[in-house]
Amino acid sequence: MSLSLSTNQPRAPDNADDGVWLECIDCGDTFAPFEDVRYTCDDCDGLLEVRYADLPTFDDFEGQGVWRYAAALPFDAGVSIQEGATPLYEVPRLEDDIGVETLRIKHEGMNPTGSFKDRGMTVGVRVAAELGVDRLACASTGNTSAALAAYGSRGGMETLVLLPAGKVAAGKIAQASLHGARILEVDGNFDACLDIVQELAAGGEAYLLNSLNPFRLEGQKTIGLEILEGFLADYDAVPDRIVLPVGNAGNTSALYKAFRELVQAGELAEGDVPKLTGVQAEGAAPMVEAIENGADEVQRWDDVETRATAIRIGNPVNAPKALPGIRETGGTAVAVSDEAITDAQRDLAGEGIGVEPASAASVAGLRKLRSEGIADDDERVACLTTGHLLKDPDAAAAAGREPEPVPADTAGVLEHLQN
Ligand code: F0G
Repeated sequence: MSLSLSTNQPRAPDNADDGVWLECIDCGDTFAPFEDVRYTCDDCDGLLEVRYADLPTFDDFEGQGVWRYAAALPFDAGVSIQEGATPLYEVPRLEDDIGVETLRIKHEGMNPTGSFKDRGMTVGVRVAAELGVDRLACASTGNTSAALAAYGSRGGMETLVLLPAGKVAAGKIAQASLHGARILEVDGNFDACLDIVQELAAGGEAYLLNSLNPFRLEGQKTIGLEILEGFLADYDAVPDRIVLPVGNAGNTSALYKAFRELVQAGELAEGDVPKLTGVQAEGAAPMVEAIENGADEVQRWDDVETRATAIRIGNPVNAPKALPGIRETGGTAVAVSDEAITDAQRDLAGEGIGVEPASAASVAGLRKLRSEGIADDDERVACLTTGHLLKDPDAAAAAGREPEPVPADTAGVLEHLQN
């Protein structure tokens, strides 16, 4: 089964429910969407995608936030905390400095729990309610756990999160904790946590809400739809390129799916689809390796390390969906150093935009692509910043200016300022 841009609009199989079904991206087998719990294909274990008999046009979208795009989602409404409708900031100084025609920052840190994960959870937790499950679980580098805890508690469900011990930023643990998740700190990295939680889910212990869950990616499609609508409103054209940080490659897959559906609906010309450009940290770059080697599969990295803990991932589970997305759109993938990530975090902060390290990877990646001449100076680009600065206060403080101790009197403060 191909994930090419030009695939025709599919016809609903008999097991579709109201024009919605699940389909294996490898063997094409179809499944009823809400009868049983399943995350991968029963026959070949391939990744599943949500498919629709009717694809919407831009005219079908109304309202604000993720549920503006209900016509592109399996339900009309979800377990919501008003996610989506995030800013698409102008950054004139950075645009000039990096040297592209247009640069806009889609700041997903402005979602309710401070990351793009909320878009997936508003849909995923709604599906969990439909399936009648009462316990939700995920492995996480932090943000997924924060979002799952918040949306799970809003939906009245128990939540269980598995985190790599010592490698999750403080803000994220605080969120998962206060929203009432049971937090299991695993003596291993994120990939080990995901292996375990997949086995727990397969054993019926909990409903899995990692991005392996195809419904979560439906919610995350709305990032792409918002970027396109924003660019169309301001420039009457979609962006040439969208640059985004990559961990499990869920967003890369979700944005590609959003664009494929618009092409199939006749709303977007195949040649106009933005080039999906993924960025990883040098210490955790298996997707970049696969793109550079022209490989069909990603080789898992067992040892990963980066200051951008959100994307400290060696086994991007959505690679089979994301690799075609990068290739078919004419995009690419690049790795950036931790130093370049911190510099980009400061650059964004200099425009008033506070992001966590992983988010800044997109801007660091664009700068690298410009310096290597891979991105052109006449491009219109959107960089995705995936999480808020306050998620990782330690990284922000380390990248920023040191506080200066002063005495508790004005004369002393004035004297200090003169030095
Ligand atoms: N940026 C941030 C801030 C993230 O938290 C993540 C993933 C990504 C980028 C990568 O996105 O997986 O769609 O390629 N965080 C997950 C988590 C793994 O557990 O919070 P992707």
